[in-house]
Amino acid sequence: MAELEQVNTSKRGLSYGWFAFGGLLVALVAAIVYAVLLMSPPAEDIRDMITFLLISGSLSLVIGYLGFRRFGLGSSLPSLRLKIMVIYIAGLAIAFVNVVVTAALMFLSEHDLKLLSVLLFFALVISLFSAYFLAESMSRSVRLVMNAAGRLAEGKADERVPVQSADELGRLASAFNQMADRLAEASAAQQRVENARRELVAAVSHDLRTPLASIRAMVEAVNDGVVRDPETVHRYLVSVQHEAQRLGALIDDLFELSQIEAGALKLQLERASLEDVVSDTLESMDAQARLKGVALSGKVEGTLPPVYVDTRKFQRVLYNLVQNAIRHTPADGAVTLIARDCGNEVEVQVADSGEGIAERDLPHIFDRFYRGEPSRSRDTGGAGLGLAIARGIIEAHGGRIWVESTLHEGSTFLFSLPRKEKAFLPMVVF
Ligand SMILES: Nc1ncnc2c1ncn2[C@@H]1O[C@H](COP(=O)(O)OP(=O)(O)O)[C@@H](O)[C@H]1O
Ligand SMILES: [Mg+2]
Repeated sequence: MAELEQVNTSKRGLSYGWFAFGGLLVALVAAIVYAVLLMSPPAEDIRDMITFLLISGSLSLVIGYLGFRRFGLGSSLPSLRLKIMVIYIAGLAIAFVNVVVTAALMFLSEHDLKLLSVLLFFALVISLFSAYFLAESMSRSVRLVMNAAGRLAEGKADERVPVQSADELGRLASAFNQMADRLAEASAAQQRVENARRELVAAVSHDLRTPLASIRAMVEAVNDGVVRDPETVHRYLVSVQHEAQRLGALIDDLFELSQIEAGALKLQLERASLEDVVSDTLESMDAQARLKGVALSGKVEGTLPPVYVDTRKFQRVLYNLVQNAIRHTPADGAVTLIARDCGNEVEVQVADSGEGIAERDLPHIFDRFYRGEPSRSRDTGGAGLGLAIARGIIEAHGGRIWVESTLHEGSTFLFSLPRKEKAFLPMVVF
């Protein structure tokens, strides 16, 4: 993570002033120390030197202040390179004038003065070149980030800047790269959500359209008099009723799933006995199992503690699992519902001796709208929402759900719920 510094702009002007003043004092002390070391001048000369240097240094400060703060030289220049060069040239010119004037005031001979100015001029040109080099390299690094930011803004998400140094400019480049990475991640996530939404709309409209189309066809056939004999009309009406029920169930499922996915599932937790829930489920699914010729049985292993669940939703999970098991088990097969105490958790399993689930379907079986290969071509069955809803409900109860299956031998759906009442407390009860 790049180090971020906060710059307080209101205090900046003040601290620049102090910095310049401090700089003048340091330069003055350094010059005097240097003069003492070099030529041990008498005290009088030192005093004169301090006076001249102070006057000329203060004048330079005032000129610099007027140039950069009053006339906006520091902020109106269009490029960093130009700015550094102007500051440098101004600094050098002030130093040049200072030295020459101070030297003249201190009665240097004309020849020495000229020689001094030539040497100073030489030093000035050399430092101008180094200033240009410095300005160019800084400005180049900033331009790289600036151009990359421009291209990123135009939508080129893979834009990155080479990190060429360990200084602030290098850190600016790596902070830019981090920001670009985050943006790319966010836009990929948004793309995934958008794709999922599109798939959802496509799947929903397909699943709603199919029963609607057959309702319309049958109603039109009866209405237009194409079908007249009472027996066929009755058959059609039963079909219409059946399709309407399917539509209603699908809409309920979609509503429930949308609440689960929005995290707005309303749970009304109450103390319930698993024994009762299991026997209610067996009772209400018995007719369906008999019709299919499947033996449905259940048992509770040991004595189970009461659980704190939303009974209606919990029942729904069991119905979905048992209904799937009956649907995917051939006649003469068996479906068993077992509930047991596993220490911290209670575990419920719905085992069948049915067709089993192919390995490639297993990872997707709890995804919404996912139907395994054999179910997809079948006309019966739901829209592939039952397991997604079951998972949503179990997870909202703080539990987990999973499946074990062997193709052609059978499947076992299992879920566990935390045993303690406390485990339900963090959940939101609307
Ligand atoms: N007991 C089971 N045995 C075999 N396959 C199953 C079983 N339960 C579920 N499946 C597979 O999981 C898919 C998703 O189930 P579900 O979400 O309930 O949707 P639906 O029942 O509407 O098809 C089913 O289409 C089926 O392929
Ligand atoms: Mg189902």
